[in-house]
Amino acid sequence: MIHYDIDAKGLALLRWDMPGRSQNVINAESCAALVETVARVATDSRVRGVVLSSAKPDFCAGGDLEWLLSATEAQQLFDRTCQLHQALRQLETCGKPVAMALPGSALGGGLEIALAGHYRVAASNPKARFGLPEVTLGLLPGGGGTQRLPRLIGVQAAMPLLLEGKRLGTAEALKAGILHAVVEPGTELEAARAWVLAQVLAQTAPVQQPWDAKGYKIPGGAIASPAVQQVFTAGNAMLRARTQGNYPAPAAIMSCVYEGLITDIDTGLKTEARYFTHTVLSTEAKNMIRTLFFNMNEANKLAARPAGVSTQACQKVAILGAGMMGAGIAYVTAKAGIQAVLLDVNAEAAERGKAYSSQLLDKQVARGKLSADKAAALLARIQATDDYALLDGVDLVIEAVFEDRGLKAEVTRKSEARMPAKALFASNTSTLPITGLAKASSRPEQFIGLHFFSPVDKMPLVEVIMGEQTSPETLARALDYVKAIGMTPIVVNDSRGFYTSRVFQTYVFEGLAMLAEGVAPALIENAGLKAGMPVGPLALTDEVSAELCVKIDKQTRTDLGEGYVAPAGLEVAQRVVELGRIGRKAGQGFYDYPKDGKKSLWPGLGAEFPQAAQQPAVEELVQRLVAIQAVEAARCMQEGVLTTARDADVGALLGWGFPAFRGGPIGQIHSVGVGAFVAQCEALAQRHGARFDVPALLKDMAREGRSFYI
Ligand code: NAI
Repeated sequence: MIHYDIDAKGLALLRWDMPGRSQNVINAESCAALVETVARVATDSRVRGVVLSSAKPDFCAGGDLEWLLSATEAQQLFDRTCQLHQALRQLETCGKPVAMALPGSALGGGLEIALAGHYRVAASNPKARFGLPEVTLGLLPGGGGTQRLPRLIGVQAAMPLLLEGKRLGTAEALKAGILHAVVEPGTELEAARAWVLAQVLAQTAPVQQPWDAKGYKIPGGAIASPAVQQVFTAGNAMLRARTQGNYPAPAAIMSCVYEGLITDIDTGLKTEARYFTHTVLSTEAKNMIRTLFFNMNEANKLAARPAGVSTQACQKVAILGAGMMGAGIAYVTAKAGIQAVLLDVNAEAAERGKAYSSQLLDKQVARGKLSADKAAALLARIQATDDYALLDGVDLVIEAVFEDRGLKAEVTRKSEARMPAKALFASNTSTLPITGLAKASSRPEQFIGLHFFSPVDKMPLVEVIMGEQTSPETLARALDYVKAIGMTPIVVNDSRGFYTSRVFQTYVFEGLAMLAEGVAPALIENAGLKAGMPVGPLALTDEVSAELCVKIDKQTRTDLGEGYVAPAGLEVAQRVVELGRIGRKAGQGFYDYPKDGKKSLWPGLGAEFPQAAQQPAVEELVQRLVAIQAVEAARCMQEGVLTTARDADVGALLGWGFPAFRGGPIGQIHSVGVGAFVAQCEALAQRHGARFDVPALLKDMAREGRSFYI
């Protein structure tokens, strides 16, 4: 695990090299090896100085998430954490100079170990990143990061790194004072060795950390100083506003820094170990690690891709319709190095779509994020046209014309007359079932749904929809394209609203139903935020536009005929449309949108939807807003619209901002427990109606004691 060599000058060279892994990570085995190695260098009298490096391209990627996800024993986790702390303390206080030679990234626990060295030298590796990203997975740095980083660079500078999990490049890390030196790649070991030898030869006082030196002061001020007090006062308020108290990790990080830095480092480390143990075992951390790390990685590695179809690089893609969606799809396609033909009814409309890419690129060039040459090359890959002859040689056509069946059928036929026989045809429809659209195709097995989200260049999800006749090969090739453009796919079977729109709209309508019941609008909106959703249901209806909700409902009513059931809350959407308050785009909806000010709830809501004398508790509303989405996702599982919990959860987090701390709608059921969730929904169904009825799948699972995840 850690190679140990001592040279003639008494310098111990430690090279960390986890067997069978591409990266060094921190888990029970590596902790044990570290503890043992540190004890050895500290006590071996032949050793006069230490260099710790890695035999991998990176120093260390951080904690082993599989290990953390499976941790259940608080005492064991606490003891192990303290053991690591003690080892790192032993290393930094043994009196011998310790240098860290970092060939690449040192993230999370990797950086925490590096911070226990007296000197850090990194290779100038453009891929290397340094930071403490634990918070992004609901965790906190538990290897001393909350104690050493602020003691090293000051509380003000450390807080954003700890609370936002920002990763710094080599130059930034040097500037921040996290690194001492940056050298040519391949010379970092030599540089570390030279520093250690210089300390040994100088034979001055034993080498120690600044925080162990007499008279040490925290850079930028101690906790009690007014400047630092302000960081906490403002930071706490901001955190509360941002997270509604739903995320324990950032709050725990603030506590670690505050409580740890008013005392000595050893006590501070113990404080951190306590918070760390508590946070690792929290449901929020487990949910975030599972969905944001494991499920997301699986989706990105195309876990749903049918085996046996060889990967074919997509060279040329045509996009029909250069409107909001088409323009964005052309941009992300060209960005991935793929030729993009952007077609609209006339050349001007197509050029307007292409201009969207120019605007995005100009901004990046102006900010120095992209070279003018690269921007020009990207733009040159987009060919704006109204001529179907350019579909010659395409691998894929993506249709993003108006949401109109007849029009979509027409462009399908026109394309198929020109595109190669093997090419795929995809629709970006948001509401029209794929199987129906595929009827216009002479090759329905090559017809698929690729549902992008708006704005395409910012939203990383693509909902891939299988029509009844879509072939596995088509799925495989469509997934290859999604991967090529760097997006995350989920795969669903055809259904009205597919998966994402179907579940997302239950949140919107539940909010409208509350308004119809007489719940105060501000209470509904706050319940949405408290549930962890990015915006309240009324504000969201305004964003989508009540008019669109009513229009989609009308279409559904026509398509389903007798099977149609009106969603609760529909009458509220209909009423605001009648009033002309159709949403943000009209400047008025449930909110007023003054041109030069912040939006505020429309004062007329009270007269239109009178408030009940007795208002429900906010917790009850939160429960409804979350359960309605979870139960709909479970129905999608039952009906086979979804085939994995992974797709349900990844799609919800990326698609409509379902709160990460809940893991996703299925993650929510899992964390509540299937049986408890069934009971919760039965009670809600009694009070609010059949929309909370759970599908048989959940009842069976509850009876048999099965769960969606282990
Ligand atoms: P849009 O109205 O911005 O753009 C549609 C474009 O299609 C227009 O530029 C129009 O000139 C063009 N067009 C019309 N007839 C055409 C024809 N015969 N040949 C070529 N181009 C033609 O619409 P938007 O928002 O881009 O939506 C397009 C599709 O994407 C729709 O099916 C919509 O449901 C779907 N969608 C929309 C989302 C959104 O947030 N707007 C999200 C996901 C999907």
